[in-house]
Amino acid sequence: MKTRITVLCENLVGRLVGSGEHGFSAFIERDGGNYLFDTGSGHSVVANSLVLNKDLRTIRKIFLSHGHHDHTGGLPEVLKLKGEVDVHVHPNLFLDRIAVLKEDDKETKRFVGIPYKKAYLEFLGANFLLSKDFFEVEKEVFLTGEVPRKTLFEKPDPRLFVEMEGKATQDILLDDQSLILNTKKGLVVIFGCAHSGIINILNHAIHKTGKEKFYAIMGGTHLDFLTPEQLEESIKFLKKMKIEKLSVSHCTGMRAAFRLHQEFGDRFFYGYVGSVLEV
Ligand SMILES: [Fe+2]
Ligand SMILES: [Fe+2]
Repeated sequence: MKTRITVLCENLVGRLVGSGEHGFSAFIERDGGNYLFDTGSGHSVVANSLVLNKDLRTIRKIFLSHGHHDHTGGLPEVLKLKGEVDVHVHPNLFLDRIAVLKEDDKETKRFVGIPYKKAYLEFLGANFLLSKDFFEVEKEVFLTGEVPRKTLFEKPDPRLFVEMEGKATQDILLDDQSLILNTKKGLVVIFGCAHSGIINILNHAIHKTGKEKFYAIMGGTHLDFLTPEQLEESIKFLKKMKIEKLSVSHCTGMRAAFRLHQEFGDRFFYGYVGSVLEV
C-alpha cells in the first residue's frame, strides 16, 4: 500500500506554489482512501489544495489534532467543498481557549480556540465522532487519543489557558492527538502541535502499536515555545529512538528546526507547504 503525505498548510512556503499561514494541515493519500489531518487557520487550505492538486472532495475522513484555531479554522472551507464527512476529535475540542502573550511589555489576551460553533460545522456537513482513546480508525490508521504525560521535561505551554464560566485555568490540552500510519517501512506519526510532548507521543505510539520503528515523524512539535533544556532533552531521547526520517513544521520554530537539522543531518527535512513524504 502506497502512502503519500503532503503538507497543505504551514507557516512557510518552500516550493514555487502555495501560501503560508500560521497553522498546519496535511493531506494523506493511501490506496484505501484519502484523509485530511487538521485544516490550518482557514486562509490557505482550499487555495493550497488547488495549486498542489489535492482534491479535498476525495477525503474519506478528517482528523483534528486539537482545538486551536490554527488547526481547526479551515474546517468550514473544507466542508463547503466536501459536504458530509466524519470528523474525528477529542471531546475537549470545543473548549474556549485563550493565550496570554507578552507584547511590548504589555499582556495581551487572544482567543485561540476553535472559531466556529459545533452546530454551524454540523450544518455544513461535519459528523463529529468523539473519542478520548487510542483507536484504529481504519486499517493501519490510528489516532493516539489522549497521550499520558510521563516525561518530566515535557511541560505544557505556560501561556495557554482554558476559560470556563469566566475563570481561566492552565490549558494542558488533553485533546492533543496525533495520527499514526502503520506502513511496511515502519510507523509514520503526524503531530498537530504535539502539546503532549513529542517523546510522550512517540512512547505512547510504541506502547499502543507494539512497534518501535518509525519510518518518519512529522508536523508541529511546539519545541521553540518551550525552554532550551526541553529541546535538548527531546533531542537526546529522539536519538535513542529508531527514527529514519524526521520532519518538522509550524510551531517548531527556526531555532529548534536548525538544532534538529544539525543533529539529524540528511534524515531531517523541513515540512514546508508542498513538502511530500512518500512511503
Ligand atoms: Fe499550532
Ligand atoms: Fe496548538
